[in-house]
Order: sequence, then structure tokens, then C-alpha cells
Amino acid sequence: VCMGDLANDMLLWYDKNHRDLPWRHSKNPYTIWISEIMLQQTRVEAVKGYYARFLERLPDVQALAEVKEQELMKLWQGLGYYNRARNLKKAAQMIMTQYDGVFPDTYEELLKLPGIGEYTAGAIASIAFGQSVPAVDGNVYRIYTRLMAQKDDIMQNAVRKAIRNEIAAMLPEKRAGDFNQAWMDLGADICIPNGKPLCEKCPIAKSCKMAGKEEVLAYPVKKKK
Ligand code: ADE
Repeated sequence: VCMGDLANDMLLWYDKNHRDLPWRHSKNPYTIWISEIMLQQTRVEAVKGYYARFLERLPDVQALAEVKEQELMKLWQGLGYYNRARNLKKAAQMIMTQYDGVFPDTYEELLKLPGIGEYTAGAIASIAFGQSVPAVDGNVYRIYTRLMAQKDDIMQNAVRKAIRNEIAAMLPEKRAGDFNQAWMDLGADICIPNGKPLCEKCPIAKSCKMAGKEEVLAYPVKKKK
């Protein structure tokens, strides 16, 4: 598999087929951050309504830093995992005090904020700031292990780390945000988690060891601990 071609094929496919999602209409790091936190544990369709309402009431970092706990909880009601909301407010306060209200613009700085792990830091840094860093989630592990017919257990940290490194090596210098989001859309629409993937529509089927095969459903291998 030539990785440069693969990235290019994904970007060409993304240009034509990407989902039109509310958080893709702007490169504002604040709104992208809010979307990524909501999407951590909640499905895209469920997030849309909450996302609009949240931003209407709290349109920027300062508004979030100053919101009353009770009102914040009400905005979050129904999304669950309320620590996500508490961490959002804490992070907003840190951005106001430690960064003069200017959103941190690198993967390393983003990682220091509460509620932002490797995946979310990669998503914000690449989508909002164009930094060439990966954002690897369950979709990517599934697609990558199918692509490579890789039978390693993705529950193991070492296996995940190796895959993250492979994806990082594939990143295009430009358009890393679109590249990362192309995996998300491929995982949502083509190389789906439940049921047969739509390999005939897949932009990288020609590079994929499992394309069109029944055994594709055996990937990713996940052993219980
Ligand atoms: N899931 C997490 N982040 C996403 C994004 N930016 N677009 C679509 N789905 C996502």
C-alpha cells in the first residue's frame, strides 16, 4: 500500500462525500472544541441540537468561563457524562487566565487542558489550526486493521500506539484536519462498525486487504481483558 496515494484518495473522496455537519462550517477553535467534547460520548445526530443551543447561549470562551454551574448543567442535561461540562468550564477559565483568552493553538498546549486527551487535542489542532497531527479513534483502528488485515488485539496499548504511529506517518502536510475527518466519515458511512462494509463505495478499497471479503467482519480483533 502506498500511503501517499492512500491519503490522496481519502482527501479526494472527502471533498465530494463529506458529511455536512454544523461544526464543519467554521474553523473557530472554540466551536470545534465544544463539538469534539460533545462527540466524545454522544452520537452525531444527538449532538446537533445540543450543540446549537449551547453555542447560542455560550458563544465564546469568556461566556463559558463565566457561566453559572446550574445553567451549564441545564445546557448539558441529557448529554450525560457531566464531568465533560465541568471540564469545559475549567478549561475556559484557564484559557482566560493563563492564555489571555486566546485559544491555545498547538497539540501540546491543548493536551494540558482538562477534558482534552490525545484524540481531542489532535482533532482540534488539525481541524482548527491545520497542525499536521493525527486524531485516532475507534473508527481509525477498525478501518486500519481491515486495510492491513492486521490481527493484533487493539485492546492492547502497544498495538494502538503502533497504529497511531502508522497513521501519523500517513498524514498529509496540508489538510490534516480533512484527512482526520475523512476517517470519521469513512467509519460512519462506508467501513461501518455494525454490519457489512460498503466496499464497492470505498475510496481505498483498491489498497485494502479485506475489501469485499466476508472475513472483514473479524476486524478489528478485540480480546476481553
Ligand atoms: N466525531 C468526533 N469528531 C468528529 C468530527 N469532527 N466530525 C464527525 N464526527 C466526529
